[in-house]
Amino acid sequence: MTHQAYIRGIGYYAPEKVLTNADLEKIVETSDEWITTRTGIKERHIAAPGETVSDMAAEAARRALADAGLPADAITHIFLYTVTPDYYTPSAACLMEEKLGIRGKVVQDVNAACCGYIYGLEMARAVIALHPEAKVIVAAAEVLTSRTNFSDRRTCVLFGDAAAAAVVTAEAASGKARVVDARLASDGSLGHLLTIKGGGSGHPYKLGDVVDEEFFLQMNGPEVFKHAVRSMAAVGEEIMAAHGLTNDDIALFIPHQANLRIMEAVARKLALPPEKIMSTVARFGNTSASTIGIALVEARNAGRIPAGGKVLLGAFGGGFTWGSALLQF
Ligand code: ACO
Repeated sequence: MTHQAYIRGIGYYAPEKVLTNADLEKIVETSDEWITTRTGIKERHIAAPGETVSDMAAEAARRALADAGLPADAITHIFLYTVTPDYYTPSAACLMEEKLGIRGKVVQDVNAACCGYIYGLEMARAVIALHPEAKVIVAAAEVLTSRTNFSDRRTCVLFGDAAAAAVVTAEAASGKARVVDARLASDGSLGHLLTIKGGGSGHPYKLGDVVDEEFFLQMNGPEVFKHAVRSMAAVGEEIMAAHGLTNDDIALFIPHQANLRIMEAVARKLALPPEKIMSTVARFGNTSASTIGIALVEARNAGRIPAGGKVLLGAFGGGFTWGSALLQF
């Protein structure tokens, strides 16, 4: 028998410091009006000096564990999705494990860019099918501002720092979501359109080198925009068709929170009305892998998910990677 996977607890953490569009007007030549109309973003949270991905992921995990009613030591696996780990080694997942006060678990960092949360739910589902006793933390955390070029107005207005986590287990419980299905995809031939190269083996630095622009996130915004809309809509249609669902069957759509215009364009293609889109992008900006986890907590806490409702998740990110997941509450 294949065991089902349930999201037993969720949580997120956003650093205290907030950078508003007005603050950015003092850093680069931009305006609140440009950022708001092009992206829907009004402000984003910024990690404190020295605050790392493993710090933030551990805090999000503590909150998800409290929500699940489980002690940290019950956890068997930690999958930490990030493109901005504390270090190359040790992994941020190992550091996170230590910060949770536990050891001996199966832990790893994974890079699926902005699709981390959805990729993670599918990996947790696979682990639980094999090991029904597993209790998996799917964490998604980014300190994207550590790789943001604050002299490039085309990118620096978009990103923020945050972490989200979900505790996934085989036990059903009322009010918890079943991970019904996920569809994941990628296309490495388009990877050059969104990169963070510097410091990798393909773009190494020697001792004493000054970091260059390649150290930071670089993106062809309009191309990413086009592919994001196309791919997220296609994979959303695919998962809905596979389960015989129409737009009426979806209670809420939680897309990756990169840009409100992308989210609205995908929803239009899926024939989902604006009131079914969950958006937190105005307050957090694009926090890469963690955006969907944050929006899921906010949606639940705001009463946006009815009992028995189906929630569609959609993501697109660097790589390119993209995917969709279906939750049944
Ligand atoms: N303030 C003011 N003007 C700006 C700014 C800014 N912050 N940024 C760019 N501009 C200017 C450009 O220089 C350009 O001026 P020009 O015509 O004189 O050269 C003009 O605005 C238009 O630039 P475009 O890049 O064509 O603007 P566009 O409407 O495409 O919006 C944006 C840019 C917001 C980046 C959009 O392309 C986008 O959202 N793309 C998708 C990005 C995304 O979602 N990435 C994340 C997905 S993957 C992940 O999450 C990591």
